[in-house]
Amino acid sequence: MDWGMKNRLSRIIKPRTGRTVMLAVDHGYFLGPTTGLEEPAKTIKPLIEYADSIMLTRGVLRRCVLPENDTPVVLRVSGGTSILGNLADEGTTVSMKDALRLNVSAVALSIFVGSELERQTLLGLAGLVDEAEEYGVPVLAVTAVGKDMNRDARYLGLASRIAAELGAHFVKTYYCEDFHRVVRACPVPIVIAGGKKIPERDALELTYRAVNEGAVGVDMGRNIFQSENPVAMIRAVREIVHNNATVDQAYELYRTLSEEAKQKTA
Ligand code: 5RP
Repeated sequence: MDWGMKNRLSRIIKPRTGRTVMLAVDHGYFLGPTTGLEEPAKTIKPLIEYADSIMLTRGVLRRCVLPENDTPVVLRVSGGTSILGNLADEGTTVSMKDALRLNVSAVALSIFVGSELERQTLLGLAGLVDEAEEYGVPVLAVTAVGKDMNRDARYLGLASRIAAELGAHFVKTYYCEDFHRVVRACPVPIVIAGGKKIPERDALELTYRAVNEGAVGVDMGRNIFQSENPVAMIRAVREIVHNNATVDQAYELYRTLSEEAKQKTA
């Protein structure tokens, strides 16, 4: 791995702990103004300082994040479909030139293994890796899951391994039973998505399990920005990821910070 690639990757996966808390706010690229992200600038502003990187699209980056921001950017470069159409039919939406102009630390695209369009998305990944290697930009492959697909270790292990085989530098997938098998069979770092909003304690439990079974961290969206207290939530997630807190300790921190915030506004 060359110097630029390593340097960019270490801006995301922090060398001090070997872990990362990525904040995912890219949902609008296919969901439009989803709950909690109706006004991206307002959602991002209080959270960005607690994120090791922020994952988003170039439109939101240019309009909703100040260029003075020094949180590394993971730029979503796949899309072209919406929740109303065939999600797997994504293509690359951003040139490497524009990604570099935006000074991103990594680019991200989804693969749809098992869909009728898997070949298109996998070759898309391979092409993106070719381009990204040329400029030392890490590629995050996101293993997207269709409604009718099993989120089990067999499927997620297959999709994650294929992503790594095609050259992805890190992989975003889902937590599942026997998750350690997914990690073991994937030769590049894995981060987990949070998935649909669940109670805060459960999302902290998910984080704890994932990192304790080998994930280098989270790339979490809805379970942070749809939380009753998003800042308290991202800080609690950080306690697990970077400081090895237990679920009880992290949840206690979440409750304390939430309570303090309520008292301030009362
Ligand atoms: C879809 C994505 C999402 O847009 C997002 O990043 C997922 O994050 P979360 O599940 O934690 O809300 O990657 O494939």
